Amino acid sequence: MQIITTINEMKALSDSFRKKNERIAFVPTMGNLHPGHIQLVERAETLAPKTIVSIFVNPLQFGANEDFDAYPRTLEHDRYLLELANVDALFTPARNEIYPDKNSNKEVIEFPGLSDILCGASRPGHFSGVAVVVKHLFETVQPDIAIFGEKDYQQVLVIKKLVAEYDLPVEIITIPTQRESDGLAMSSRNGYLSEQERQVAPLLYKTLCQARDQLRAKAVHFSEIEQQANEVLTKAGFKPDYFSIRHSGDLSEPAEDEKQLVILVAAYLGKTRLIDNILI
Ligand code: PAF
Repeated sequence: MQIITTINEMKALSDSFRKKNERIAFVPTMGNLHPGHIQLVERAETLAPKTIVSIFVNPLQFGANEDFDAYPRTLEHDRYLLELANVDALFTPARNEIYPDKNSNKEVIEFPGLSDILCGASRPGHFSGVAVVVKHLFETVQPDIAIFGEKDYQQVLVIKKLVAEYDLPVEIITIPTQRESDGLAMSSRNGYLSEQERQVAPLLYKTLCQARDQLRAKAVHFSEIEQQANEVLTKAGFKPDYFSIRHSGDLSEPAEDEKQLVILVAAYLGKTRLIDNILI
């Protein structure tokens, strides 16, 4: 596996693949890799002859009071996992490669009505930060395909919008959320949970499943389902940020007879903000 730290080297390697007509599948990450990431990599490897992974903890997508400094950085172990997974190249740029001067991290890419609702409402600027870095990474790595996990459902829609608005020549592929055996969605942030919080955490997915069953039974209004779920989570010690039934295509508020639905949740457990969702 080649380890690449500069934009120039990364572009040169991608150019060399492209000259040989070798398609590139790309998995952008912030590192601290878990089996969910490895599934993304394995999927990438089935889609193109060359697989590139990036690890960059992107300061632009963290708010002032968020966990940028504390975000787990485990580069040695990540490298080992990616070697084992037969990745062709790992791109680990330093902060000043991606944001070389003061103005370069002032770029804003917002999609009103999509990037400023739900997680975007609670984390202002978060999805702009994601869109800015993903655009930089796509322009540098020049992939044909990029793979993302459905756990970050709103992020996936923001990235699809980014690709459409900027006409980026990248196909976006998603894979279902990988879960622990008790249902908890895999996430680097699960490592922040205390032992006791970890026991409670699977209730998030359980509550989503219950809401899905209620939706399917069509016996209760959406708002009642949301309210009940909020109560269940609050009683168990969560501080729900939102529990929301939305249109799965654009996250707008759906009519009661809408069929294309996704249920999304974000909730704090202690200091850890967990998110999850379920497609109907
Ligand atoms: O999902 C993530 O890990 C990040 O948001 C991403 C897409 C790598 C951008 O920093």
